[in-house]
Amino acid sequence: RDRKKALLQRINDLAKDFFYENLRRHEAAAEARRYLAERGLSGEVLDRFQIGFALPGWSALLDFLSRKGCQPHDAAEAGLAVKGDSGRYYDRFRNRIIFPIWDPVGRVVGFGGRVLDGSLPKYLNTPETPFFSKGRILYGLHLARPAIRERDCAVVVEGYMDAVTAHLHGAANTVASLGTALTAEQGRLLINYSRNVVIAYDADAAGVAAAMRGMDLLQELGFQVRVATIPDGKDPDEYIRRQGIQSWEKLIGEAPSLIEYKLQKAMEKGPVRTVTGKLEVMRQVFPNLALKNEVEKEEGLKAIAGALNLTWETVAGEFKRFEANLG
Ligand code: UTP
Ligand code: MN
Ligand code: MN
Ligand code: MN
Ligand code: MN
Repeated sequence: RDRKKALLQRINDLAKDFFYENLRRHEAAAEARRYLAERGLSGEVLDRFQIGFALPGWSALLDFLSRKGCQPHDAAEAGLAVKGDSGRYYDRFRNRIIFPIWDPVGRVVGFGGRVLDGSLPKYLNTPETPFFSKGRILYGLHLARPAIRERDCAVVVEGYMDAVTAHLHGAANTVASLGTALTAEQGRLLINYSRNVVIAYDADAAGVAAAMRGMDLLQELGFQVRVATIPDGKDPDEYIRRQGIQSWEKLIGEAPSLIEYKLQKAMEKGPVRTVTGKLEVMRQVFPNLALKNEVEKEEGLKAIAGALNLTWETVAGEFKRFEANLG
């Protein structure tokens, strides 16, 4: 199993270098270079993230790997090739911009590939294998570790481009959860570097729903969680490029705490007036408050009372009942 692991690692390393060289030198990558430049990426940041290009055609990578003495079935096991119905293998990643994915200690463990046009899927990723699981890595963590420690804060975004653009502009404490559901394993990867985390997901419905799940999970792991809301339906990549990094840092720096965020969300469509509405908001935030120390509880109860236009005593009474039921 260790030998197999080493072999798959070698294949990933070879593929990463092949994709990297393609993007820089191959004539078939001209459109990819143009695409990336239009999205603000060139030169140094492409190197830092070792961004590459998978050539069009069915076997560019397999041919390259075969010249290096690697078997197609091993490439398939690494997630880089697929076995067709005829039994022949072909390249999984074709005509896509390639984002190598590292584990926290800096080994290439997988890839994400983006199309250059509107075709689907927009991103293709290395499939889940015994050696690779997206739920166990945070994209960019191998680069972000020192900055997370230094700033004592991590920023979690959704996508490859969000992380790359943030790093390009100096927000080097940024990592991406790559998709929607943040996992406990991903949270645990951060806890050695800082207990403060800001979730900065896309402003679309999927992003908000994912943030809602992720924030509770991170708080339960012991993080102080804050949640940023990106104005105008943007994602971090678009926001940073249009508004600049200063605006971004301000948005992150002023992001409300998890409880404040939930209260804001609850009141988005106007003040909560009904009894059931008020009880529902309390039901949503009490579990978060229960994990806090006494000072934070006091502050939280004040915020809830203010938001729901209730007296502190009423909210505190409801919270006491809630805590008693937790046993
Ligand atoms: P988004 O749809 O928000 O894409 O998905 P994006 O990151 O903003 O991509 P650009 O800016 O259009 O290039 C967020 C993340 O979800 C994962 C990817 O990790 C993506 O970065 N995803 C999305 C997939 O794995 N596959 C998909 O088809 C779409
Ligand atoms: Mn073999
Ligand atoms: Mn999105
Ligand atoms: Mn985007
Ligand atoms: Mn996005």
